[in-house]
Amino acid sequence: MRVAITGARGRLGRALVEAFSAPPGDHAEAPEHPWEVVSTWSRPDYDLDDLKAADRLVRRDRPEVIVHAAAWTDVDGCARHPDLAKRRNTDATEALARACLGAGSRLVLISTNEVFDGRRADGRGYTPDDRVGPLNAYGDSKLAGERAARDAFNRASHREQLAIIRTAWLYGPPGDDFPTKILAAAERASRTHEPLRVVSDEIGSPTFAPDLARAIAGLLANGRASGVLHVVNAGAVSRADWAREILRQAGVDEDVEDIASRAWPRASTPPAWAVLASDVPLRPWSVALAEYLATFRQAAAPAAG
Ligand SMILES: NC(=O)c1ccc[n+]([C@@H]2O[C@H](COP(=O)([O-])OP(=O)(O)OC[C@H]3O[C@@H](n4cnc5c(N)ncnc54)[C@H](OP(=O)(O)O)[C@@H]3O)[C@@H](O)[C@H]2O)c1
Repeated sequence: MRVAITGARGRLGRALVEAFSAPPGDHAEAPEHPWEVVSTWSRPDYDLDDLKAADRLVRRDRPEVIVHAAAWTDVDGCARHPDLAKRRNTDATEALARACLGAGSRLVLISTNEVFDGRRADGRGYTPDDRVGPLNAYGDSKLAGERAARDAFNRASHREQLAIIRTAWLYGPPGDDFPTKILAAAERASRTHEPLRVVSDEIGSPTFAPDLARAIAGLLANGRASGVLHVVNAGAVSRADWAREILRQAGVDEDVEDIASRAWPRASTPPAWAVLASDVPLRPWSVALAEYLATFRQAAAPAAG
């Protein structure tokens, strides 16, 4: 199975490249995995602003599966420039869906918990059957991308060739994510004796990008990559408690002060309840976090000899 990955230099994209490139024995979910080639599509070849790019690359590489991880993920940028968000997260997705249909390729579209309004109050995670209702331009643009892809595949009677995988609160290499920002903020707080304030009324499912990537590879290998699926690490936590766990696991002695999200003004409005019910059982978020933080310690350790 020839696989192409868009946004291959992004957080999820690089994890996908790794997951699809791993030797067969490394995949518990798919020990005899059937992938042959990985095409990585990034700028300048693949640009979300160039609606002809997808068709060009699909014709060039003829992948059997495309995993679309590229997106404009700057939620505040999307709020300030909703037209650009639509072009990059909706129109480019529609163009990719059409290119896939033209070549008979499967499409795995990565989407987000931000298609929901986050007002769910029964303590359960959102399922694919729950009513969508984005609160912000990023969620709007991603949901419209889902719908455009679904309409295109349905019209062509290829419904089963499309998978929409929603996830939440991604973190992982190369960093510049919530854990690395909290560690940097804690260091700053300790130096300046300023309190480390973190929002406590946003609850979500922190998800380690390599875990998600392996799950996607497993779904494809097992013929289950179809329809709408939610994939997140197990458990739910507030941003503030996530920060506390990051500091605890990293051995950093710094207090976290709870604040309300309204005290943290930003262009976009994040959903308060960002919890998804996972259709693929993944390990608890705090266990995955420990693996991630261990890589920091290894990187910081002096070389042996
Ligand atoms: N991050 C989260 O918390 C989160 C949560 C739920 C869902 N998601 C979804 O998961 C997917 C992967 O997200 P991520 O966290 O890996 O995001 P990311 O690290 O920001 O990566 C996004 C990728 O998209 C590419 N990209 C951005 N603008 C582009 C453009 N104009 N043309 C071509 N490529 C462009 C980037 O390319 P460069 O490397 O060249 O910049 C990057 O490779 C996205 O679909 C996102 O909507 C993310």
